[in-house]
Amino acid sequence: MVLEVLKFPDPRLRKKGVAVESVTPELKTLAENMLETMYAENGIGLAAPQVGQSVRLLVIDTRPRDEDGNIVLEGLTELERQVPQPLVVFNPEITVTREKTTYEEGCLSVPGFFETVDRALYIEAKYLDINGQEQVLKTDGLLAICLQHEMDHLEGKLFIDRLSFIKSNRIKNRIQKHGYPTADEVAEERSEARERRKAAREKTAVTAGSK
Ligand code: NI
Repeated sequence: MVLEVLKFPDPRLRKKGVAVESVTPELKTLAENMLETMYAENGIGLAAPQVGQSVRLLVIDTRPRDEDGNIVLEGLTELERQVPQPLVVFNPEITVTREKTTYEEGCLSVPGFFETVDRALYIEAKYLDINGQEQVLKTDGLLAICLQHEMDHLEGKLFIDRLSFIKSNRIKNRIQKHGYPTADEVAEERSEARERRKAAREKTAVTAGSK
């Protein structure tokens, strides 16, 4: 089932997610619905607060696809390839971060806006998978950036909160005054951003030998 994705300034996006005690059948269903919603919206990640659920749950699939929708593994870094995707992540905790990178991010809750955000280049995190099993992941690339972005949602934080004060306010005021761009405008902006991302992708890879 495709769920409604809340958009800034919906106050529910500001609520912190609560840790799950165990992965119940209801939570599994929520995770599956979130994956379906993420794919329907052409997103690469979605956090539970974005669908109005204040739970520490996020889903991710950063695997690049060609025009026919086939996964292109060459677009992934060596570390990213070792992480099974799509990822369903409960109660994530980042345990290690290394180096810094920047990336032009967007968000299904702030459609049509893309801005450069500072993130850690490499992360290690522990979490519970969809079967409630403890897992550890070590990654860089878009997957590391996406995980950090989605984990912000669990704290009620959006990527537009991470910009300079001036830039952040400019975007927020524009949305509150004029609303969001049309679906066509968003699609255009998104495809341009995708091209820019493709060019930036190599930059996010930990160079071989530095692991
Ligand atoms: Ni987001």
